[in-house]
Amino acid sequence: MERRTLLLCGLLALTGCGSTGPRRTPGVGSAAPGDRIAALADVPAGSGALVDMPGDGQLLLVRGDGADAAVRAFNPACPHQGTVVNPPAAGVITCPTHRSTFDPTSGAVLSGPSPSGLTEVPVRVSGQDVLLG
Ligand code: FES
Repeated sequence: MERRTLLLCGLLALTGCGSTGPRRTPGVGSAAPGDRIAALADVPAGSGALVDMPGDGQLLLVRGDGADAAVRAFNPACPHQGTVVNPPAAGVITCPTHRSTFDPTSGAVLSGPSPSGLTEVPVRVSGQDVLLG
């Protein structure tokens, strides 16, 4: 293989530009109310998880700790420029791009530059499953 080709392949591997994986769009995708979207065990208490939805969607599930063990879901698109936010850590959801922070119990913005909070998506727990509400 030619040296130039090897360099290009290495660059593509480092940047992920050569990836053929599906690009997810934040939101419920093609899921409908009542659809199972995760196992409760896959949503760690006091944190959360990004879950892939049918139709290439993606949601952020968060789960309280202690007295508030409720499971909530948010569209993970940051209202600032659309970056997918991280699951909560140390009680805060953080956008990795410009560091906006959000309240995991409401999605409200705690610090900018995001102009608004995350959009909550209704979900409910049934047995050991999390269902779209
Ligand atoms: S894209 Fe999230 S703070 Fe800018």
